[in-house]
Amino acid sequence: MNILILGSGGRECTFAWKLAQSAKCGALFIAPGNAGTLEYGTNLAINPNDFEQVKKAVLDHNIKMVIVGPEDPLVLGVHDFFLNDSDLKGVPVIGPQKYAAQLEGSKEFAKEFMYRHNIPTAQYKSFTVANLEEGYEFLDSLKPPYVLKADGLAAGKGVLILNDLNEAKKELEEMLAQQKFGAASSKVVIEEFLDGIEMSSFVLTDSENYVILPNAKDYKRIGEGDVGLNTGGMGAISPVPFADEEFLSKVEERVIVPTVEGLKKDNIPYVGFIFIGLIKVNNEPFVIEYNVRMGDPETEVVIPRIESDFVELLSATADKKLDSFNLKVMDKSTTTVMMVSGGYPEAYDKGMEIKGLENVNDSIVFHAGTKLDGTTVKTSGGRVLAVTSYGDDFEKALKQSYQNIEKIHFDKMNFRKDIGFDLK
Ligand code: AMP
Ligand code: GLY
Repeated sequence: MNILILGSGGRECTFAWKLAQSAKCGALFIAPGNAGTLEYGTNLAINPNDFEQVKKAVLDHNIKMVIVGPEDPLVLGVHDFFLNDSDLKGVPVIGPQKYAAQLEGSKEFAKEFMYRHNIPTAQYKSFTVANLEEGYEFLDSLKPPYVLKADGLAAGKGVLILNDLNEAKKELEEMLAQQKFGAASSKVVIEEFLDGIEMSSFVLTDSENYVILPNAKDYKRIGEGDVGLNTGGMGAISPVPFADEEFLSKVEERVIVPTVEGLKKDNIPYVGFIFIGLIKVNNEPFVIEYNVRMGDPETEVVIPRIESDFVELLSATADKKLDSFNLKVMDKSTTTVMMVSGGYPEAYDKGMEIKGLENVNDSIVFHAGTKLDGTTVKTSGGRVLAVTSYGDDFEKALKQSYQNIEKIHFDKMNFRKDIGFDLK
């Protein structure tokens, strides 16, 4: 079966690595891909948000399944585009349709869904510029810290957590009246602050059935000790040591089952990954957010722990046969450490030569922001490489990742040396 992956990061490189291991994978294409995905398939210079180009690639290369990596094409309706096109409607797309993608694309939509289906989450109210005064009053009624969320997609920057009431009011005014995050903040969700430790669950659903994938914890801040600016993620660990069986069964009963059943009750078809951002408060799970895709860098630790054939797993998803799929997961821990460009997540340089990749032993280097220039691998983004390792526990796996990072070099490279610091 010929397969097309949309996207270009570490997540998509990991999908390509895993798909290429399957005897059922024919020609594999990645659009646009990176220097790492070239090891597993053919890169196509296509923008995943340009659906006509995607269509041409699917027809030119006789693609029989499309896996959507990032949220943008889903929120823009790539799956709907396939269903509405007579040439494409028989080609399965792994990733939800536009309506369901609002679970990630609109915080208010997600909160309403959770309330409707009694899924535990922070209390909230949403406001527009028309009821800004009520927003101030709601803030007056809360205790600090104050959590303000732009309703729409804001490239991971739309959530503000503020200790000072006046500052929270000022930010609310800037978001609503001055469109601080553009149209994304024309509506703002204000919610109760939850104090706990975060982790993520990953579910694959075919609209009827689901399988639970390995869980993971990522490290979002740029600085050691979890300080500084938010990034897409500086490293991840799977499984999460503090998520014991009792807690995970609460997650399944109170969050996963009501989510999948809720989609059914609301008549929302959903074929694809659900990434559930959770916070554990007094041993109880609360949902912080849904994403309608896999996480990055979580994918780089979740997928390597799956023993089952990935083409078979995704085909069972497309065929609505997940009920009879026996997912096999490795008993080992995995960790990944992101190597990023100096300056990221703010301004950084590109085009640095990456040296030493051939010296890596017993780790897998998933490429994120890289490209091939002749025969030289160069940096082409902020997040450059994810160095993933296996171990009997996460500490052993981490040691392996850090040993291999020592062998890799590019100018101004940066990485966090304390992934997992809070779990020891
Ligand atoms: P989100 O984009 O909704 O995942 O929010 C980004 C980050 O803000 C989360 O990963 C949490 O660290 C934090 N956060 C969001 N909502 C809350 C909340 N209600 N209480 C505490 N922290 C939160
Ligand atoms: N690592 C967080 C995300 O993929 O959204």
